[in-house]
Amino acid sequence: MQSIKLFMRLTSYINVNWKLTSLAYLCTILALTLNLAQPFIFSYLIDEVLIAGHQEKLVFLLTLFGSFALGSVVLSIIRTGLFRYLGIRHMLDLRDVLLAHIRRIPLTEIEKHGVGKYSALLGWDTASMGNFLNHIVVEMVTQWFTMLFAISMIFYMDARLGWITVASIPVLLAIPRIFVKPMKKYADGVRSHNEEVGTYLYESIEGSKEIRAYGLEGWERKKNQSMYKDLVAVSTKETLFRMFSGQTGTLAFSFILIAVYSMGSKQVLAGTLSVGMLVAAVQYLNNALQPIQVMNNFFGEMQQSEVAMKRIEQFLESPVEQAAQQKNKAVSIPFPGESAEVSCKQVHVSYEGTQILRDIDITVRKGQVAAFVGPSGSGKSTLFKTLAGFMEAEAGDIRIRNLPMNQMSRSDLTAHMAILSQDSYLFSGTLYENIAIGRLDATEDEIKEAARLASLQSLLDTLPNGLQTVVDHQGFQLSGGQRQRFAIARALLKRPDILILDEPTSALDRETEEQVMVQIKQAMKGKTLLISTHRLDIIRNADIIYVMDQGTVLDCGTHEELVGRCRKYAALVAGQEQEELLEKIG
Ligand SMILES: Nc1ncnc2c1ncn2[C@@H]1O[C@H](COP(=O)(O)OP(=O)(O)O)[C@@H](O)[C@H]1O
Ligand SMILES: [Mg+2]
Repeated sequence: MQSIKLFMRLTSYINVNWKLTSLAYLCTILALTLNLAQPFIFSYLIDEVLIAGHQEKLVFLLTLFGSFALGSVVLSIIRTGLFRYLGIRHMLDLRDVLLAHIRRIPLTEIEKHGVGKYSALLGWDTASMGNFLNHIVVEMVTQWFTMLFAISMIFYMDARLGWITVASIPVLLAIPRIFVKPMKKYADGVRSHNEEVGTYLYESIEGSKEIRAYGLEGWERKKNQSMYKDLVAVSTKETLFRMFSGQTGTLAFSFILIAVYSMGSKQVLAGTLSVGMLVAAVQYLNNALQPIQVMNNFFGEMQQSEVAMKRIEQFLESPVEQAAQQKNKAVSIPFPGESAEVSCKQVHVSYEGTQILRDIDITVRKGQVAAFVGPSGSGKSTLFKTLAGFMEAEAGDIRIRNLPMNQMSRSDLTAHMAILSQDSYLFSGTLYENIAIGRLDATEDEIKEAARLASLQSLLDTLPNGLQTVVDHQGFQLSGGQRQRFAIARALLKRPDILILDEPTSALDRETEEQVMVQIKQAMKGKTLLISTHRLDIIRNADIIYVMDQGTVLDCGTHEELVGRCRKYAALVAGQEQEELLEKIG
C-alpha cells in the first residue's frame, strides 16, 4: 500500500475537505449495503414464496426490494456528485501548490527542463493523482466493503462455501503480483515518453518559424515518427500486460465458481441447503471475489498514479531558491567601507559545476548609471540574473541597498528592483495589462506615461484599439523591438530604485534606441541604473563602465579612462565604429 502512504504524505500539501469526504464515504457505504442486501431478499423470495408457497409475503418482499433499490440509487447519485466536487477542488488545490512551488525553485531549473516537465506535472501528474483520490481510493473502499459484506453473508448461509471463498482469495491475489514489476516499468516508460512528446509538441509550435524557414518539415516528420513509434510500442506493451494480468484472474475465478456449484448442488440435493440460499450464495460469491479482480485491474492505474504522485512529491521536495525561502525581514547592516546601492565582492557563480563568473567586484552607487560591456558569453546576463536573485552565487558577498543578498527574501528584493531580461515575456491579454503588471496599483495615466517613455506612442496611435489591443501568447503580433519597448514600459512603470536592463535596446533601430535611452536615463535620474549592452555609444556617458570577458571583470572606469588603458574596451569601441561606418555606407 505504498500508494496510500504516498498519497497520505501528499495530503499534507493540499487542503483535504475531510467533512465532505467522510459524508461521501458514508453515502457510499450505505448505498452498498442497500445494494448488497438485495440477493438476500431474493433468496427469501425463492424459498418462502416460490417453493413454500407463502404468497402473502410477496408484496412485502418486493416492496422491500424496490425501496432498497431506490435508496441505493439516490445515495449513489449523491456520492458521485460529492466525489466529483471534491476531486476537482483537490486537483485545483494541488495545482495551486505546484504552481507556488514552481515560483520558488531556481529559474535555472525551469530553463533546464523546459515547459514539458512542468506541463506534465500540472497536467498529467495532477490529473493522475486526482484520479487516485476521486476514483481509485473510492473504488478500493467500495470493493473491500463489498468483499467483506459478501463473505459474511456466505458464511451465514453455509460455512463450507464460506471457506472455499476465503481459500480462493490468496490465489486471486497472488496472480497480479507476478506482473507488478514489468507493469511498473511500462507505466514509467509511458509517462516519460508522454513527457518527451509533450515537450516536442510544444517546441514544434514554438519553433514554427525555424521549421518553415529551414524547410524542416521532413526532418520534423521523421522525428515525429520515431518518437511515436517508441510511444506506441511501450503503450501497447503496457496495455497487453495489464490485460494479461486481468484475464488470468478471470480464468481462475471460473474454476472457483465450478467448485462452489458442485459442493452447493450436492448440499441442496442432500437437503442441507435451500435453493434460495444457494442462488444467493453464488451471487455473493461473485460479490466477494469480483472486487479482487476489479482491484487487479486497477493495479495498472494505481501504478500510474503512484509514479505520478512520486514525481509530484519529488518535485515538491526539490530545493527552492534562497531568495524565495522564508526569511526574517532583512535588517539593515552597516556596510563595511563605502555604502553602495549594488555591490559584489569576490562573487563566484557556477552553473551545474561549471564556473561562469569569478572574482566579480562591482560597486554601483545611488544615482549612478553603470554599464556592463563585453563580448557575447562574457557573463553579463548571468551577473544580472544573480543580482536579481534568479541564480545563486556560490561564494562572495552581494549587497543590495546595504543588505546582504543572502538574507533578503524575494519580496525584499523586488521591493526596490526591476529587471528587464534579454527575453521578456508578454502574457496573453491587452497591451495595457502587459504594462500594468509592472505595478499593479498604477493608474491609467501612469501606464500611458510609461508607454510614452518607452517610445510607444506612435505605435499605439496606429492601433485602432491602442493600449487595449489584445496580444496573444508571447505577443506574437508584435515585432521584437516593439515587445522590447513594452517590457521597458513595464519596468519603468515600477519606478524602481534600482533598474537592471539586459541589452534593453538590442532589437531597436538607432533612432528609437536613442530616444528610449534618453527617457530611461531621465526617468531613473537620482536612482540607480545597471545596463548591459553591446551598443557602446549609448553608454558612453555612463558613470562607470565594467568591461567583462570570460566571466570576469577585466577593468572598470569611465569611457575616457578605458579607451586609454583597456585594450579589450578599445577593441570593442573600434569594432563598433567599424560597424557604424559599414551601416552608413550600406
Ligand atoms: N542556462 C545555461 N546553461 C549553461 N551555460 C550557460 C547558461 N546560461 C549561460 N551559460 C554560459 O554562461 C556564460 C555566460 O553567459 P551569459 O551570462 O549569457 O553571457 P552574456 O550575457 O555576456 O552574453 C556563457 O559561457 C554561457 O555559455
Ligand atoms: Mg546576455
